[in-house]
Amino acid sequence: MISKEIRQKYLEFFKARGHEIIPPAPLVLAEDPTTLFTSSGMQPLVPYLLGEAHPSGQRRLVDSQPSLRLGDIEEVGDNRHTTFFEMLGNWSLGDYFKAEQLPWFLEFLTKELGLAKEKLWVSVFEGDKTTGVPRDEESLAAWQKLGIPKERIFFYGVKKNWWSRSGEPALMPVGEIGGPDSEIFYEFADVPHDPKFGETCHPNCDCGRFLEIGNSVFIQYQKQADGSLKELSQKNVDFGGGLERLVAAASDNPDIFQTDLFLPIIKRLENLSGRNYLQDPETTRAMRTIADHLRAAVMIARDGVLSSNKAQGYVLRRLLRRLLLFTKKLGLEASGDYFLGLISILAESYGDIFPDLEEKKAEIATSFREEADRFDEVLKSGIKEINKVPMIDAKTAFYLFESFGLPFEITEEIAREKGQTIKKEDFQKEVEKHQKLSRQGAESLFKGGLADQSYEVTRLHTATHLLHEALRRVLGDHVRQEGSNITAERLRFDFSHSAKLSVEELKNIEDLVNEQIAKNLIVTETVQDLSAALASGARAFFREKYPERVKIYSIGPSFSREICGGPHVASTKELGRFRIIKEEAVAQGVRRIKAVLENGGQKIF
Ligand code: SER
Repeated sequence: MISKEIRQKYLEFFKARGHEIIPPAPLVLAEDPTTLFTSSGMQPLVPYLLGEAHPSGQRRLVDSQPSLRLGDIEEVGDNRHTTFFEMLGNWSLGDYFKAEQLPWFLEFLTKELGLAKEKLWVSVFEGDKTTGVPRDEESLAAWQKLGIPKERIFFYGVKKNWWSRSGEPALMPVGEIGGPDSEIFYEFADVPHDPKFGETCHPNCDCGRFLEIGNSVFIQYQKQADGSLKELSQKNVDFGGGLERLVAAASDNPDIFQTDLFLPIIKRLENLSGRNYLQDPETTRAMRTIADHLRAAVMIARDGVLSSNKAQGYVLRRLLRRLLLFTKKLGLEASGDYFLGLISILAESYGDIFPDLEEKKAEIATSFREEADRFDEVLKSGIKEINKVPMIDAKTAFYLFESFGLPFEITEEIAREKGQTIKKEDFQKEVEKHQKLSRQGAESLFKGGLADQSYEVTRLHTATHLLHEALRRVLGDHVRQEGSNITAERLRFDFSHSAKLSVEELKNIEDLVNEQIAKNLIVTETVQDLSAALASGARAFFREKYPERVKIYSIGPSFSREICGGPHVASTKELGRFRIIKEEAVAQGVRRIKAVLENGGQKIF
């Protein structure tokens, strides 16, 4: 069975059980100051898991969410890890619970995908003394009733059977939601257990015999300031299953790169290089990495990101440079045709869900080719840099990686030529040191946002709507939002406009925004059908795919109307004074404004 069929069957299965099919959120999050990419299906749904009514008016939802997780990037190359994946998800927003969810998913696996029940193993939460969350007897009973024998039910603690965006309870920031979960694993009977991973095999063993294919999270807790967990006002189900893995299970082939999602890419790499995918471990690893990184890079570029040194652009660059490295290893040249050929395969296989790829593929191929040129330059200057140091150690390797984007593999190779060795573990330690520092940064950001957006971000968000409208009124109707990013300190707004803004234009824009602020305009929220909202002239971000029912925020009776998830302040009085601090170009035909709010206004509610 192929991926398209499985995706469709899943959506229809849950639709038949009262779920509304919702469009996925974009992969690249332009408006979220805390996260670069959507990394799970529940991420866009947090407000509704917390109790807010979903704009569709429904409490049962289902979708397929393109997601990106970079934590496993180093694992890519084995037969099951990817950075980009599609997460099939279904949710109960305080509606059904374990007694419905577990039988439904099992039925989907056995009846719709035809998986043999004997090959399915499950895991259940064993309970946790620290937080007092009890052992999940209800799920255990449900699985037994469904005919899963005791021998195939395993209990694990918070490290394996607890889910939140930040992991186990101790790592959850205040306000974050999560809960115990129950996972299903598919057993590849032909894969023998590898004792390297432990004496006995079990569902969470990493030897490759078991593959996790679905996770039902029972989101019912919220982290409190005193470290405890409080029951939410509603008990939710958050199910997620990786489409790629479900396809592998349905084909009873543990190598997800041999499913229809990747095979055409692998075949093309075989043709170009004259090598066989399975001829030796190095070739297999190179082809898998190229296939994964290419797909992830294309999905990021599809949302309008270009490689750069910051944020999403940096991730794209990193994926592309790794891809280029493995391309070299296969003896291939990363020409424009190389990229176009590969991207065309993706445009075709994703034609039904991402039809825009066909139109964008040539432009994406050109931008990848440009990155390949820059990378060649980097290699040259990085190599020059290496030649300056007498001894290459892990610190130097990390410096070259951070500052020049020089992959470890290259530095290692040059060191080897000079008769020196650098240990990958030492390099890895340097990377971890750095990651720890940036994680600390991310955590402090996290506290301000997401589940409960900080007041500063909310104020700047409302100011962004005023700016968007003011730009159109001053510069003209051609102005379209190209991106937006808000931190507690400033807003940043990218928009289409071909010329540098004059001092006078900037002043007119600033004045127009400040006039609205001075009028103490009330901000109101309504819910409407998307078509009606667009027909009434509400502003929309053209890159975003909206659901059928949307929220519209209006500022004043007629100044600004924009489709948006919120939140916003209650009145413009809360904004204080708006000041533009920078205007610059970010790309051909795209300008960027950074602005701040001064003299903090007053919170009304
Ligand atoms: N949120 C859970 C996960 O990402 C299930 O959807 O695994």
